[in-house]
Amino acid sequence: MSRFWSPIVHTLSPYVPGEQPKGDGLIKLNTNENPYAPSARALAAIAVATERLRLYPDPGASHLRETIANRYGVAAEQVFVGNGSDEVLAHAFQALLQHDAPLLFPDITYSFYPVYSGLYGIRYEEVPLDAAMRVQIADYRRPCSAILLPNPNAPTGIALGRDAIEALVAGNPDKLVVIDEAYVDFGAESAVPLVARHDNLLVVQTLSKSRALAGLRVGFAIGQRPLIEALERVKDSFNSYPLDCLALAGAAAAIEDDAWFQETRGRIVASREALARDLSELGFEVLPSMANFVFVRHPGHRGAALAGRLREEGVLVRHFRKPRIEDFLRITVGTEVECARVIALLRRLTSSCPRQRGAIVPSCPSNGPSRTDRAW
Ligand SMILES: Cc1ncc(COP(=O)(O)O)c(C=O)c1O
Repeated sequence: MSRFWSPIVHTLSPYVPGEQPKGDGLIKLNTNENPYAPSARALAAIAVATERLRLYPDPGASHLRETIANRYGVAAEQVFVGNGSDEVLAHAFQALLQHDAPLLFPDITYSFYPVYSGLYGIRYEEVPLDAAMRVQIADYRRPCSAILLPNPNAPTGIALGRDAIEALVAGNPDKLVVIDEAYVDFGAESAVPLVARHDNLLVVQTLSKSRALAGLRVGFAIGQRPLIEALERVKDSFNSYPLDCLALAGAAAAIEDDAWFQETRGRIVASREALARDLSELGFEVLPSMANFVFVRHPGHRGAALAGRLREEGVLVRHFRKPRIEDFLRITVGTEVECARVIALLRRLTSSCPRQRGAIVPSCPSNGPSRTDRAW
């Protein structure tokens, strides 16, 4: 705290990202990164781009936008790119979601949404997921200015079909609907094909997950021209060059490398299904995931305790201290070897205390306090 702070700084509750450990040696299944190395074509393009570091990058990111446009069958003018989808979302909050009526998003969802709302002074209402942790479109029939949904949702991994998204968009023609598709490439249906028919739809995606480029920081949005223009106006009032020339080159090459994309996402989906099956066999409740993570809880063990014990064994997973989900773990799908390790550990940890079906066992030594993350 300082007397030099602007008043708003006192009110902010910043986002707490998942742990990024300094040393090697941990199996890192806590921030939904891709377990495989990025496309070799992307890495080669980045190497070539180092020769241009003396110069400012293209402020309009025209080559990357054209590449994304070709891939998704839209016009380059319908594409906006930013420094990670977090920045794209932040610009959407400021450019499109700041209105008198509240913004709606699920009560259990990506925890950056309330943070951006706080930063930009946006009133929001959280719409509870149903008892099965699903988004019910009918629950969004209430006064609002806009609706923001991740699809698949995070951290549940549960996806809505394109028909449900279209029903939401068509049923709210005067409200903007933003669909955050950070995890869509792992099996869900993208809403991008709906953009041509609906001027109130903005779809946001990232290269952090399915393209294994979390460190490059590239995200994008697709929508009709007036929505993209609003994002550009905010971006050009904030930072002309949010993507450096390495990111522009690497991202375009990654989008073009469809062979790498199809192979790695297929492996991740297969590993997810095996992981979900193995966890079910250990007695975990596994939510049906269409993402590169699974969200699970065990009837006999506290989530915090299991996360703490896994960490002691060198495996990082994500745990959230939040009502309704405090006994869940979010486990990123790793390599086949990493998944086998986490299953072997969980087999040992969950069999170390007698399990009581349908009840948490507070007296079990493995249920003690542990170090966990505060947000997701
Ligand atoms: C639902 C969701 N949206 C957006 C993001 C942001 O991704 P990035 O800023 O790396 O593109 C994440 C990151 O984990 C996420 O889970």
